[in-house]
Amino acid sequence: MCGIVGYVGSQSALEIVMAGLKRLEYRGYDSAGVAVLADGGLAAAKKAGKFVNLEKELTERPLPTGTTGIGHTRWATHGGPTDANAHPHLDNAGRVAVVHNGIIENFACLRAELEERGHELGSETDTEVVAHLLAEEFSACADLAEAMRLVCRRLEGAFTLVAVHADEPDVVVGARRNSPLVVGVGEGEAFLASDVAAFIAHTRSAIELGQDQVVELRRDGVTVTGFDGRPADVRSYRIDWDAAAAEKGGYDYFMLKEIAEQPKAVADTLLGRIDAVGSLTLDEVRISASELREVDKVVIVACGTAFHAGLIAKYAIEHWTRIPCEVELASEFRYRDPILDQQTLVVAISQSGETMDTLMALRHAREQGARVLAICNTNGSTIPRESDAVLYTHAGPEVAVASTKAFLTQLVACYLVALYLGQVRGTKWGDEIHAVVRDLAKIGGEVERVLETMEPVRELARSLAHKNTVLFLGRHVGYPVALEGALKLKELAYMHAEGFAAGELKHGPIALIEDDLPVVVVVPSPRGRSVLHDKIVSNIQEIRARGARTIVIAEEGDEAVVPYADHLIRIPATPTLLQPLVATVPLQVFACELATARGNEVDQPRNLAKSVTVE
Ligand code: M6R
Repeated sequence: MCGIVGYVGSQSALEIVMAGLKRLEYRGYDSAGVAVLADGGLAAAKKAGKFVNLEKELTERPLPTGTTGIGHTRWATHGGPTDANAHPHLDNAGRVAVVHNGIIENFACLRAELEERGHELGSETDTEVVAHLLAEEFSACADLAEAMRLVCRRLEGAFTLVAVHADEPDVVVGARRNSPLVVGVGEGEAFLASDVAAFIAHTRSAIELGQDQVVELRRDGVTVTGFDGRPADVRSYRIDWDAAAAEKGGYDYFMLKEIAEQPKAVADTLLGRIDAVGSLTLDEVRISASELREVDKVVIVACGTAFHAGLIAKYAIEHWTRIPCEVELASEFRYRDPILDQQTLVVAISQSGETMDTLMALRHAREQGARVLAICNTNGSTIPRESDAVLYTHAGPEVAVASTKAFLTQLVACYLVALYLGQVRGTKWGDEIHAVVRDLAKIGGEVERVLETMEPVRELARSLAHKNTVLFLGRHVGYPVALEGALKLKELAYMHAEGFAAGELKHGPIALIEDDLPVVVVVPSPRGRSVLHDKIVSNIQEIRARGARTIVIAEEGDEAVVPYADHLIRIPATPTLLQPLVATVPLQVFACELATARGNEVDQPRNLAKSVTVE
């Protein structure tokens, strides 16, 4: 939540910071602001609302040109989305500017202290206290990095802070505790950002910051210390994301582009992980085969869409490895005292690698002695860094708030983990693994075929734009797919949408069915566990008899559903466990088109941010 950018170099800081903020707007769009150091002073502009409001403000009232600057795009926590609460926040003399992501939990008492000492604070935010504290510390030590270290030692909570001071015109200082912050190192210039997308157009050299570290950026180098002032060890890495991958590339929305990229994302996630004979080579999973043979329980923790990927993974893990698998919302996990030990493998799934609930869950798991494997899309992010092992999904940057390609690649990664466990533990024969791997290798092409047939789905979505409610039903792996379809519709179309296990219908939800209520049903393959198929066909008849308008997603050749489907969406035949990879795609397209038809912002749905970095 909240996007932060900092720059020092020889180019126009305002241009670089603004371009970076534009790429980070998905992290929050309640307000945006910038500050630049120029002509011995500090100039700032900030505006409530979308980034475009700030652009307009800068056109009407341009800032002076400078080569050091910071910027912020906000997802409001403390204080509403107003100009006054927008970042940057300045001290009373207007010499320090600070931007912040996270929550400073002890801000109220810090504020009271400052007010007692005569400071005047003009916003309702937790952030403003930092600008005032930095000004006080700087007046004593005349060193912004040192002032930041001193202030950070007084702060409680999770925070990324980036600050500039007019008396140190070629310095940007950042600090990090639990919220994301990455350093970019260029030729005679350096960058700070919540996400590499903000600076990949300028440099591919990045440095990961650890917890409780302060970084000082100058044109000629970067210095990192702990909050205690001791030099810190840092890891440099090369960003392999392509700058063009973070552009819309001719699509109206990032979401449309990301849906279209799914065949490639799936293929990329398989790449290099299967050897010539079809066995898995997951060298990155730095947990030895002997340790994996000891695992007696798998626990998956994740949030939102990643949680749905985990729910699907459970079916594959238990079926292929015979190890019990629990799936838990990361936000609930550590508060219920879960039973974990050295033989528990915890799998933390996260696109961003920064979701606070998931991070806290994995920390809790490690404290209890469990091994943690992260499935993550973002190199250098906190969740993989704090895990024992990581399997990266290769979806490329996902910018739209609604997760699409990350979900499909999370599924692929989960299947790989399940098969790998089956391989090392010997619960699957080699030829069985090769057969699944062959099916997985074909899935990218099947997703492509689904995408080619989506026009009727779009048309159907447009025709339902006036509805208030859509229900989703599924069985077995189709149940989490139904949950995912409902989540997409809620977040994009702002409609009441619920996913149910079809078997639960008669235990309550069937009372919701009324005349012409759209109900999407994900039908399992008739070739798999056909008892499931037969049961869901009965469910379709039951709801249709009560007036529902049935929208049936069924595989090609499944004729049994035809008489009961008011709308039929065909998907290619796949093995039962892999069906979510194709069945989810029409639901993504459906939600995106409904949102468009209702005039909603597809890439930036209201109240949401891409990466949820506060609990
Ligand atoms: O970055 P993460 O995968 O950890 O994010 C988890 C959820 O916040 C995320 O999947 C969210 O539910 C998406 N907006 C859903 O489309």
